[in-house]
Amino acid sequence: MNAFVIYCSPAGSTQHVAEVIGKTLTELGQAPVMIDLCDTKNAAAVKTRIKEIRQDSVLFIGSPVYAFHAVPPVMEFIERLPGNGHGYSVPFVTWGAVTSGIALHEMGTLLYKKGFPVIGAAKIAAVHSLMWQFSHPLGEGRPDAADDHKVAEMVKKVAAKLKAQSVSTVPLAELNYQPEDVYNSMAKLSIKAARQMLPQRQVLKDACIKCPVCSEICPAGAITLDPYPCFGETCILCYNCMRLCPEKAIAAEFSPMEAWLKEKAGEFGEDTQLKIFL
Ligand SMILES: Cc1cc2nc3c(=O)[nH]c(=O)nc-3n(C[C@H](O)[C@H](O)[C@H](O)COP(=O)(O)O)c2cc1C
Repeated sequence: MNAFVIYCSPAGSTQHVAEVIGKTLTELGQAPVMIDLCDTKNAAAVKTRIKEIRQDSVLFIGSPVYAFHAVPPVMEFIERLPGNGHGYSVPFVTWGAVTSGIALHEMGTLLYKKGFPVIGAAKIAAVHSLMWQFSHPLGEGRPDAADDHKVAEMVKKVAAKLKAQSVSTVPLAELNYQPEDVYNSMAKLSIKAARQMLPQRQVLKDACIKCPVCSEICPAGAITLDPYPCFGETCILCYNCMRLCPEKAIAAEFSPMEAWLKEKAGEFGEDTQLKIFL
């Protein structure tokens, strides 16, 4: 197996799952290549690693769910894969216990199109990354040890599948688990549109020391210093700039978010148990 574990993980949950996958593959005697698509500090090294992907590779590819979708760096990466692949894929998403949206289905659709049929998939509830300021965020404590165990089991089953004479794939329809009307309304919302709905950031010029931290940690490479931070169009709204600013110089009004997200989670009522598709 020529295995790659590729992910984007602004707040760390998707990376955690990717590491469990990588560790399990290593225990199975594989030498997976780990690629962090949002490691903008090492963009050149990331590009080199991506070039190692062959058409017959097995791609474990993970994204957080943002506004119902996989994040743009992940979808853009799949889009750039050479077509006519003869490999396989295992998409996985982490979601903040509101709704896993249509991310897995969108990733799977594109992976099939690129010639990397899906042979396993997973949706994993995780701590909601917009709720770091609240004492009881949705998805608190997830993924936990039981989740890690299930992920490892999935990897072992995928490896066993690959040893079989004919490899069984996961039908796309299985990743399309939202009711049609819900799917269609989710498809209409983009990260761009979500930008208007989420708290607006403000740079507190009295506090900002014009250090490079926010631009260095931005997973989308969207921040320039002029000399204060300016947020560009590629911003994916992870709020890492605000969360990780050492001077607390980026502010946004998050207080209404807790009740709003919890209400939405109640409306969707999605089961937060880890779900594996095989
Ligand atoms: C801008 C934004 C939008 C999000 N949208 C959703 C969503 O639609 N549904 C959901 O359950 N969680 C949502 N989340 C929470 C993340 O999907 C979840 O916390 C994920 O595990 C984060 O992955 P990471 O830790 O790898 O960055 C969103 C988070 C952010 C920052």
